[in-house]
Amino acid sequence: MDGMNTDPFRADVLDGLSYPQKSLPSRWLYDAEGSRLFDRITELPEYYPTRTELKILRSRASEMASAIGPQSVVIEYGAGSLLKVRILLDALDRPEAFVPVDISASHLHTAADELKADYPKLQIHPVAADFMASNLGEALPQAAGRRAGFFPGSTVGNLLDADILRFLSNARSDLGDGSCFIVGLDQPKSPDVLLPAYDDAQGVTAAFNLNLLKRINRELGGNFDLDAFAHEARWNAAESRIEMHLRSLKPQSATVAGERFRFAEGETIHTENSRKIGLDAFGELAEKAGWRLDRTWMDDDNLFAVMMLEAV
Ligand code: AVJ
Repeated sequence: MDGMNTDPFRADVLDGLSYPQKSLPSRWLYDAEGSRLFDRITELPEYYPTRTELKILRSRASEMASAIGPQSVVIEYGAGSLLKVRILLDALDRPEAFVPVDISASHLHTAADELKADYPKLQIHPVAADFMASNLGEALPQAAGRRAGFFPGSTVGNLLDADILRFLSNARSDLGDGSCFIVGLDQPKSPDVLLPAYDDAQGVTAAFNLNLLKRINRELGGNFDLDAFAHEARWNAAESRIEMHLRSLKPQSATVAGERFRFAEGETIHTENSRKIGLDAFGELAEKAGWRLDRTWMDDDNLFAVMMLEAV
């Protein structure tokens, strides 16, 4: 199947391990095992974002639903386990269709089947794709009401500005005139709160990060020694982001798809950026992409924001 070596995972890994600062795109963290581990992260006491966003969604869903209006189509990007959208669907007036887009096909179809059982009147069209690469325009079902994008979880914080712009512009043309977009965004705050959220006491985040090497070993014939790398979470204040790295605990080399990569002791593979973008900065990006930041809902401690963008 891979005789031509067009596997994008393989290409990203061989490329990313060749840079002076080795790095791997964070989207590859989410194979079936990675998606399961991420779901466990969302329940950790240290990981406040999911809990906080759920609280905002539960308390404000009726305001969000009336802003969206009746008979809408909801399009969720990077959909995951589909727990959050249920809060929105329950508040919406006769939603007609739901399009979850997620890179992890098996996880997506399981979650979509579970949703189907609970919302028999809703048309559900799962799309197994990288939300950055997808072009949904043609695939979107027609409905009497408007299209509402839904991008909770602060996943937008994984992206650099240029990619946020590209994503928001794509979504703007997919969703079309008259659409709206609900986006969740973790907020800047003290590293004393941020660091434990990305380096929990039970080691679930460490397992999530290290699973990427396990995936490389399994899918790309790698021979990474999982005991010779350690999870590390860093606060990069200048860039306002948490970085996940995998730190080599000794001088070593690993082979992937027949290519050999050397690691000095202490050298890292950068595996994720989780940016904490303030409201003004996000509003400016949204504006450049054809959206207007219309409303913001936050928790009492201003940990997390849920924003409503309106197509301009
Ligand atoms: C799913 C990207 C929002 O950045 O907080 C959690 C991923 N990484 N713990 C985040 C993640 C480590 C998460 N997002």
